[in-house]
This record gives sequence, C-alpha cells and structure tokens, in this order.
Amino acid sequence: MDFAARITGTGSAFPKKRVTNNSIVQKLSKLGITTSDEWIRERTGICERRISNVEKPEEHNSSLGSSAALKALEMAGKSPQSIDQIIYATCSPDTLLPSTACWLQHRIGADQAWAMDINAACSGFIYGLVTAEKFIQAGQVKTVLVVGGEVLSPILNWKDRNSCILFGDGAGAAVVEQVSSDSSRRIIDSHLRSDGNLWDLLYVPAGGSNMEVTPERYAKNLHKLTMKGKEIFKVAVKTMADLARITLKNNQMSLDDLDWFIPHQANLRIIEAVAKRLKFPMGKVLVNVDRFGNTSAATIPTMLDEANRDGRIKSGQTVLLDAFGAGLTYGSILVRW
Ligand code: ACO
Repeated sequence: MDFAARITGTGSAFPKKRVTNNSIVQKLSKLGITTSDEWIRERTGICERRISNVEKPEEHNSSLGSSAALKALEMAGKSPQSIDQIIYATCSPDTLLPSTACWLQHRIGADQAWAMDINAACSGFIYGLVTAEKFIQAGQVKTVLVVGGEVLSPILNWKDRNSCILFGDGAGAAVVEQVSSDSSRRIIDSHLRSDGNLWDLLYVPAGGSNMEVTPERYAKNLHKLTMKGKEIFKVAVKTMADLARITLKNNQMSLDDLDWFIPHQANLRIIEAVAKRLKFPMGKVLVNVDRFGNTSAATIPTMLDEANRDGRIKSGQTVLLDAFGAGLTYGSILVRW
C-alpha cells in the first residue's frame, strides 16, 4: 500500500508580552539609537511582536511549542502517547543539547515517540513537514508532530536597529497523519533547496563550537544575530517567487488553482514583492507579520493555524506554503487541505 501525509490538526502559542514599535523606540532611545514607529511600519509592515520572558519556564521555546502541540493534538483527536515522531524546527533551541524536541517530549509526555530538531531557520517548518511526509510515505511512522518554534529575543542585538525591530517569539504546530496515497486531502508536492555560500547574510558568530563566547566577544555582541538585510531582501523575493512557480508547474497548476498562499512572514514588503512578481492577488495571501513580526520557523505554522481555526482555509482548498531563511534555505509545500 502507498501512503501519503495529511495535516489533521494545527495549534499555536505566543508569549504574553506584546511589544509595540513605540516600546522598541523607547528601549533603543535609552541606548542612543533612533528609530520610529513610522519607519518600522513603512519598511516592514510590523506593528507589534510578542517577546518571551525567559526567566519563566512557561515561556521557553519548548513550552510555547508544547502549548501549540497540545492544541494541534486536540484538534486532531490524538493523545501525546499516539505520536510516533516529533520534529522540532528551530534555530533558537532551549539548550544546545538536548534537543528542543526532547524537551517538548518531556513536557507533553509523548513517551512512544522519537524526537529530533531541524535547524533550517525560517524554512524550518517546511523542512520538518517534508521530513514527516517522507517518514510517513516510507511506512515508518503513522502520526508525526511537527513544531516550528522560536525564542529569538535573547539572541537579538538590541543595539542593531536593522535587525532587532524585525523578530518576535512564538510557536506553531501541526499533527501529520498517514493516509492512503489516493486521498485527495494531503501534502501534494514539496521542494527544498539551500545555498550555504550565502551563510554570511544572516548568522550568529559566537556560541557554536567554532567560537566560544569570551568576555571580549560578549562585549562586542558576537553571540547575537547579525544580518545583511538588503541582500536577503533581494534573494528572498526572487527565490520565493521561483519556488512558487516551480511547485505549481510541477503539478500542472496555475496561480488560479491556488486558494491561499502562505509565504514566510519576514517583512510585508518582501511578501508584497513576491505577490507582485507572481501577479498573485494580495487578497489570497495570508499575513500575520503585522501582529507577530518575524517568528522564523513559527511564522508559517502560526499563520496556518490562525486561518484554519477562523475558517478561511476550508476543506478541499489548495494552499501553497513558501519560505526562505538563514543558511540560506528555501522550501515550498503544496497542500490540499
Ligand atoms: N529605524 C530607522 N532607520 C533605520 C532602521 C530603523 N530601525 N534600520 C535601518 N535604518 C536606516 C538605515 O541605517 C539607512 O540609513 P542610511 O540611508 O542613512 O544609511 C536607512 O534606514 C535605509 O536602510 P535600508 O537598509 O535601505 O532599509 P530597507 O528598506 O532595506 O529596510 C530591512 C531594512 C527592514 C532590514 C529590510 O532590508 C529587510 O527586511 N530585509 C530582509 C530581512 C529579513 O528578511 N531577515 C530575516 C531573514 S529570515 C530568517 O532566516 C530569520
């Protein structure tokens, strides 16, 4: 028997604290750095984001992921014990080891599962879904929990106004189940890519095994995220549009066949530029970057959950997910809901 994979439940969770652009303006002004609500809105479309209080265990990455996962499991009518595999997409793990997937397993009591992290930054949820689909197609697992979760705020450089205004914390989850390959409601197709030559467009220099965080490096903020925003912008628009076209062409579909497009939510201007390049109406593009900022691996699953729960995405509709992230990594998935 041939198998396919279907998303049967979604969930999301965010930290309590809302941080408006104006509160960032105040925070940066204390450091002698100028920014404004108008600049941030105009250049990014972001109005506010959520920031975790990492002193509270309930706002750790794996805790947000656990809340999102339990909501997704409830929707799917599944218990934590019924999960065979946990895939946690993140570039801001709770701890370097063990994996955030194991932290989540511990928190929700998914004793029958095996758990692993995937780091593809903002493309992580797509990489995770594709991995889940392949294990399901191979007949190795039946029920997979895929989580995209980030608590990026501790690794943001609050002295760098280019990057600190962009990001937020949160988590989204999906339960992915084995169905027959002739099922119409399933993951239809996917494409993954990466270009490691572009590693220096977005990275954290220190804190990995090749650069220990010393007091000198700490003082220079080398343990914080550094980004070449303009360069990323250009590559992101081109690659996301290319991947969308390739995915549709591979399935003999046109843009008219798509009900919804969920791009990675990095910047509203990137999203609008991709839609313009594709000649795709913004009315069919789902956006939450205004309220949550760029939550990296969590942007797509949280957007998917919101539109699933409020009834925008309906049974039988066709949805294209499309992402880019540090690496650089890229990925697209076509889903019949
Ligand atoms: N407030 C006020 N002024 C600012 C700010 C700020 N927060 N940030 C930058 N500026 C200034 C710049 O210094 C520059 O001033 P100058 O002309 O005197 O040098 C001016 O504004 C224009 O800067 P640009 O870099 O041209 O601004 P741009 O329109 O490109 O917007 C931005 C910058 C928002 C970073 C944009 O390039 C972007 O969003 N890039 C993509 C970033 C991204 O997607 N990152 C996530 C990748 S996904 C992942 O894997 C996590």
